[in-house]
Amino acid sequence: MRTEQPPVIRLADYKRPDFLIPTTELTFDLAPTATRVKARLTLQRQGAADAPLVLMGERLKLISVAIDGQAVTDYTVTDETLTIAAVPDRFVLDTEIEINPSDNKTLEGLYMSSGRYCSQCEAEGFRKITYYLDRPDSMSKYRVRIEAPKAGLPHLLSNGNLIETGELGNGRHFAQWEDPFNKPAYLFALVAGELDVLEDSFTTVSGREVALRIYVDTGMRDRAVYAMDALKRSMRWDEEAYGREYDLDLFMIVAVRDFNFGAMENKGLNIFNASLLLADSTTATDLDYERIESVVAHEYFHNWSGNRVTCRDWFQLCLKEGLTVYRDQGFSADQRGHAVQRIKDVRALRARQFPEDSGPLAHPARPSSYAKIDNFYTATIYEKGAEIVGVLRTIVGADTYRRALDHYFAANDGTAATLEDFVASFSAVTGEDYSGMLDWYTQAGTPQLHIAPSYDSVNQSLTLHLTQATRPTPGQPTKTTLPIPIRLGLLSEAGETLTFNDGQTETLIVLRDASQDMVLNGVAEQPVVSALRHFSAPVILNLDEPENHAFARLKGDPDPFNRWEAAQGLARTILLNPEPAQAQIDAFAAGLKAALIDAALEPAFKALILGLPTESDLAQSILPVDPAFLHASRKRFKAALSVQLKDTLLAQYKIIVTPDTFSPDAQAAGDRAFRNALLDLLLAGHSRADLADDAQMIALAENHFGTATNMTDMVGGLIALMHVQGAPYQAALDAFYARFRHEPLVMDKWFSLQATCPHPDTLARVEALQNHPDFDARTPNRWRALVGGFAANQSVFHNAEGKGYDVLVKQVLMVDTFNPMTAARMIEPLSRFRNYVSPYKDGMQKALETILAQPNLSKNVAELAGKALN
Ligand code: PHE
Ligand code: ZN
Repeated sequence: MRTEQPPVIRLADYKRPDFLIPTTELTFDLAPTATRVKARLTLQRQGAADAPLVLMGERLKLISVAIDGQAVTDYTVTDETLTIAAVPDRFVLDTEIEINPSDNKTLEGLYMSSGRYCSQCEAEGFRKITYYLDRPDSMSKYRVRIEAPKAGLPHLLSNGNLIETGELGNGRHFAQWEDPFNKPAYLFALVAGELDVLEDSFTTVSGREVALRIYVDTGMRDRAVYAMDALKRSMRWDEEAYGREYDLDLFMIVAVRDFNFGAMENKGLNIFNASLLLADSTTATDLDYERIESVVAHEYFHNWSGNRVTCRDWFQLCLKEGLTVYRDQGFSADQRGHAVQRIKDVRALRARQFPEDSGPLAHPARPSSYAKIDNFYTATIYEKGAEIVGVLRTIVGADTYRRALDHYFAANDGTAATLEDFVASFSAVTGEDYSGMLDWYTQAGTPQLHIAPSYDSVNQSLTLHLTQATRPTPGQPTKTTLPIPIRLGLLSEAGETLTFNDGQTETLIVLRDASQDMVLNGVAEQPVVSALRHFSAPVILNLDEPENHAFARLKGDPDPFNRWEAAQGLARTILLNPEPAQAQIDAFAAGLKAALIDAALEPAFKALILGLPTESDLAQSILPVDPAFLHASRKRFKAALSVQLKDTLLAQYKIIVTPDTFSPDAQAAGDRAFRNALLDLLLAGHSRADLADDAQMIALAENHFGTATNMTDMVGGLIALMHVQGAPYQAALDAFYARFRHEPLVMDKWFSLQATCPHPDTLARVEALQNHPDFDARTPNRWRALVGGFAANQSVFHNAEGKGYDVLVKQVLMVDTFNPMTAARMIEPLSRFRNYVSPYKDGMQKALETILAQPNLSKNVAELAGKALN
């Protein structure tokens, strides 16, 4: 028996709402199991004269309804709506409802986290708070009054400006908030509870003083210092890079432990998953710092790209998310280095978005239908959405891009816009037609770009034969061509820059058709093509060339991205070959060594070049996928490199000194990243023939872990000890547990590190950890640490007897009973079953079928499991 597929909502059916809500007044009377919410809405008809008023509401206990002060009894309530048939054209609607926040484990609507009230409304959570037109094109001015006992609830926060606070008697108090900006309901927020606050201020470019407050768990104020610093840098950057100034007198961030996603851009009151806000050197890794910086920026940037200009409907989600990710990537690049940032962003795109785009869950950046919009907070909407903005910017150039964005913000301020509006801003400032760019948004699948170069030594010209094609995706059997910007330069076979066309060193080609020939003249010798520099478009590049050309790029490409890419490509070729030639491995080792000792390259870049393609990366370049082969191949290659490069790795490792005082800045983080990557490769040769040698390496890793003065190095030491397993690994895990068992964010790492360890023993470990007293499936961070970490662990999750899938099925079905949004995110690891060899293929399919056969499955899980099997 299969669960029926949930009904879908279609972009083609979009209709504006029948009523406007110019003002919204909410009064909360907070109580853990019986919170009362009174809503007073002014309503104005804009649709048909006979259109009924249909408000959305879920899990609400309706107490009363009144129109213009008169009680109404003639209405219909379903699980999802409140309908009043005959209403005037203009009226005031009063409703009162009751909810139970302490019982709300969906973490959507109003819920409780560590004794604190907290809300999450995007995408459709506001309807769990009151009856409303809960859709982004319904914008309103909000006034919010919160009444609560003073004990345990000293802070009562909502959006906008604090107008008034006061006593109510009986040990109760209130706060009155007013948000002067129109906003859709998904940007509403409320937080109440005991909190410590870190305060600061920011003077905007026009001289306005903004109070900044970060609210955290009691005792955690010092851990918010970095986020505050990142916030101030973000505010300045948005003024400088985009001319965007903050618009309220107050900006608040609250950190909560229980949160379904990363963070939320509620107007003036961002709410963060604590894991993306709190950091100090002993509990956070450099990666945490990096993510905190980028997410703080991301949510802050939403104030313009998302809040001031919001989305007409959820199909346009990418309008705010793609653009905002593009903006936060630009910020991070300016803070931490453009090349390194680009490599990391592309690595993430390939790890998450490319697989999505080539599997059964593939969807365009603007989908045309969905059952649950929660399922579309995907890598495609976010990361591909960002790439599309980058494609546009590359095509028009930086100056035009800036003018187009200024136009976009000015023309759409205060409105709920569409992707057409965004693209139209580029036409508005250039007079050119960019409608071809919309195809990037509406077409799913990663384009394949093929380049066949042919050199004519007599005429000293190079002809590039360029073709593009995109494979069919579910629901889109035929594909159109897209504008693909290709940044391109030439090198000599010795790896030196080669000029063309009268001394040019780089050109931009925009491929618009299915195929095109491009001729470069004045090419003095057989060139090495360096194409798609800086990854100028989110495509899969196939370049016809002999292998020595990739070595030339690795050696001397002035574009660091392509230098890294050359190493990745060479490693991939070796890793996918069951019997690579020793000469190939030697050549790669020599190329790698040259990069490692090159004083001109940054340590952060060297760390990235040491990171060989991952097993999931490799799984995208081969069909069918045999996870056991990929794991063994990678392990063998790393061991070979480890032995061959030992002296170089060790020498480099010793050169890097750990400074006495910790700094999270990019340079210090780069040193640590390089040192930890060196250690990992050194230990990858574990179980080498020479036992003394082996003992020396184990001691090195134990010492690295034992003497670590920051979390990055502790984690680096633990990862290196994963190669060793046995007593040294267990001792480190135990020491880690003993030291951090009372630190929830660090315990998440403890679970995730064990779940991601690529050793066969991990399966039994994960099975046992499900029953560990510190495991808690109701806290998404902890659940994702164990279950998400495990599902990403290719060689362990893909167990030939299907035991890995059993763990996942059990966990998904359990979490689906109370938190469907989070459960659904774990369907993806099973979705590409058709690509795998037996028995994995059959095991994954069976797992999906088991899930789908479950009675009372949520719409969220049913939609994704159903699509995966179709
Ligand atoms: N809008 C948030 C962001 O990307 C993500 C989010 C969506 C958070 C839904 C919570 C719920 O910034
Ligand atoms: Zn966002």
